[in-house]
Amino acid sequence: MTQYKIPVIPGDGIGPEIIREGRKVLDTAGERFGFDIEWVEYPHGADHYLKTGELISEDTLKELSQYKAIYFGAIGDERIKPGILEKGILLNIRFYFDEYVNLRPVKLLEGVWTPLKDKTARDIDFVVVRENTEDFYIGIGGRAKKGKSKKTLEVMRNMYSVKFGLDIDSDSEEIGYQLGLISKEGTRRVIRYAFELANDRNKHLSSVDKANVLSDIYGFWREEFTSIAAEYPDVKTDFNFVDAITMWFVKNPEWFDIVVAPNMFGDIITDLGAMIQGGLGLAPGGNINPEGTSMFEPIHGSAPKYKGQNKVNPIATIWAGALLLDQLGEKDASSAIVKAIEHNIVNGEVKTYDMGGESKTSDVGSDIARLVKEI
Ligand code: IPM
Ligand code: MN
Repeated sequence: MTQYKIPVIPGDGIGPEIIREGRKVLDTAGERFGFDIEWVEYPHGADHYLKTGELISEDTLKELSQYKAIYFGAIGDERIKPGILEKGILLNIRFYFDEYVNLRPVKLLEGVWTPLKDKTARDIDFVVVRENTEDFYIGIGGRAKKGKSKKTLEVMRNMYSVKFGLDIDSDSEEIGYQLGLISKEGTRRVIRYAFELANDRNKHLSSVDKANVLSDIYGFWREEFTSIAAEYPDVKTDFNFVDAITMWFVKNPEWFDIVVAPNMFGDIITDLGAMIQGGLGLAPGGNINPEGTSMFEPIHGSAPKYKGQNKVNPIATIWAGALLLDQLGEKDASSAIVKAIEHNIVNGEVKTYDMGGESKTSDVGSDIARLVKEI
């Protein structure tokens, strides 16, 4: 029997409830497919921060680096200023482990209601590959009042580091600014990953940018995309401005197969993607470093107002667990879980409120676990 040790960070709000169901389903998949999971719990999140002042320490990150995959619930809490936990824990993990691919399937499962009239499971089935370590997410910027000032800003990544020394001279009352950056290395690796995926699927890759306005950063993205495209002559490609692609996702989602996007546009378009696949309760994500430590999570947040009610939909988290197993090489278990989710939905008997039902979070988890055994 294969043994896996998987660190799990349930986090805040509804995190613990949905992770509990994810574990239930993954444990059951293990029984069926011959592996055993030892879960290693980590307390990081709002309570831990309020108690200890620690977000996530270098030591903990080092310890986590021995694992191939982390299972993550959600973070965010009303008692803490927005951004602290997100940057200190979630983005910290993505950057520390250089999880440069944020893989977000946008797949309308059979039986799920979509707000797009006349579109079916056949029309909505693509994958967004969101760059996950650069762009406007590097988190450097500042504020400056009228007059002269200096500022040093630094970006540290595994592959490179960049230092900006700014001499600011402004006669505006006050300015706020934020730098976005993409590197050649960082851009090429994520675009290459997307081409490989496209090559394995329907050989169609769409790129997202805003090169018409932000031409230094996204003109560069386009150049690198074009250069890598030359290595994949069988893959059909197109460029899309981010504003236009939001329109096409709604009007013609069937056009898309693999979509590759810089970090911030990828963030925005995948919330839209989540809605057309039936809602945030159904949208999983993987933060992947193909050679290192990856992390799997639902793309929704911690929904504090539902905390402790056993009410929210655990499917996004269970599906994220399936992506995790896929990353570990447990392909059969992974696809059995996705099938079990589909059966649960098609049966239509055990569903949470967001899907028009009255079942509890734990009922849905148990039903999907049962189906994993039967499929
Ligand atoms: C997401 C979230 C995060 C992001 C936040 C919570 C930092 O919106 O995973 O899409 O912007 O990446
Ligand atoms: Mn987001």
